[in-house]
Amino acid sequence: MTDTPAPHTVQETDAEALRERALAALLTARERTALLTDSVDDHELTAQHSPLMSPLVWDLAHIGNQEELWLLRAVGGREAMRPEIDGLYDAFEHSRASRPSLPLLAPAEARTYAADVRGRALDILGGAPLHGGGRPLERAGFAFGMVAQHEQQHDETMLITHQLRSGPAVLSAPEPPEPTGTVTLPAEVLVPGGPFTMGTSTEPWALDNERPAHRREVDAFHIDTAPVTCGAYQAFIEDGGYTDARWWAPEGWAMVREHDLTAPLFWHRDAGQWLRRRFGVTEPVRADEPVLHVSWYEADAYARWAGRRLPTEPEWEKAARHDPGSGRSLRYPWGDEDPTPERANLGQRHLRPAAAGAYAAGRSPVGVGQMVGDVWEWTSSDFLPYPGFAAFPYREYSEVFFGPGHKVLRGGSFAVDPVACRGTFRNWDLPVRRQIFSGFRTARDA
Ligand code: AVJ
Ligand code: FE
Repeated sequence: MTDTPAPHTVQETDAEALRERALAALLTARERTALLTDSVDDHELTAQHSPLMSPLVWDLAHIGNQEELWLLRAVGGREAMRPEIDGLYDAFEHSRASRPSLPLLAPAEARTYAADVRGRALDILGGAPLHGGGRPLERAGFAFGMVAQHEQQHDETMLITHQLRSGPAVLSAPEPPEPTGTVTLPAEVLVPGGPFTMGTSTEPWALDNERPAHRREVDAFHIDTAPVTCGAYQAFIEDGGYTDARWWAPEGWAMVREHDLTAPLFWHRDAGQWLRRRFGVTEPVRADEPVLHVSWYEADAYARWAGRRLPTEPEWEKAARHDPGSGRSLRYPWGDEDPTPERANLGQRHLRPAAAGAYAAGRSPVGVGQMVGDVWEWTSSDFLPYPGFAAFPYREYSEVFFGPGHKVLRGGSFAVDPVACRGTFRNWDLPVRRQIFSGFRTARDA
């Protein structure tokens, strides 16, 4: 089995196309950053909306600082612009909860700093040798792609901060598409057993933890064709799911007891009806929408209650990418072409997941829907390196998080941009976390 290069794999002759792609990715990210930081006043930018999150003004300057480190200093060979601020924006030096008390750049200064860095980064991009050779950091524009992904990851983080803040709505977006077409999905599909190619060695901007491509044996299994919906999850709640220790991992049960959990984060019951708060607006819980803001423990408990289990990470990826016809793994569930608005709910174009069954054009070869976009999906797997993993370009991106403490999420939510989402992309978090845009689907042995 080989990791056949997909049509989009970068050749030397694609240098100009790559420069355009890098430029577009950087500009798209900055537009989103501006929307998320210009939509609130200076007081809200510097406030801590949750101890789980940084003040928005920290994310803004951290975005600029990482861009300075990688594009100006590492690629461009420039001197530090403001070496005294590096420590403030090093995510490993200060916890999120402690960041509001640091002498951070004020909003106007943070904006100017990020804009100055960007101006210089675009100069460097204009002259960078974007081809298949050279230093690994520069090969195929990797550093530029990595920096654009980093900014978009923080744009998702900042959207989480917006969701956690109290007060009236400041963000809005059109509704996602409704399911269409006459083909109704079966509840689950069978994925036959056998090997497939997991990860990638050819996707130019794939991050270190997605590499290298390698062969995995996966036994036959069944997997849901759509994420678990709020309606299905409500049945678990109404059946006493949160009061029955039988369904819960011991640490999950301890979390339920300690925090008196009764439903996903942001849900509450009013006169017998489930309501949710979403970006400053209260609305009824919609039964056909994928459930969002559940921890790994809640996903795991629901699956056990339903007589099922979470998919493993290799099962998830095989259901999403493996094409039984060609034996190849695709870049995305629908094929090798980039995401479009018809294929997946990505990039904060909509501020919620689409109903289960939407995005018929985005289904995988085995007929599984909404694998990319809508909600991040918890898998049963710990975040571990693939065989042959090499940390690149810094250990603190992935390597320091490997181990049993973090669970893998796959697929990407409505809040993440296509540049930071692929069939191979891996996200991870602690199993107690539920402020993230997390949902899940279930599986069972065949
Ligand atoms: C991959 C989403 C877990 O936000 O902690 C941002 C991404 N790494 N800056 C995170 C990241 C460094 C990371 N996640
Ligand atoms: Fe970061």
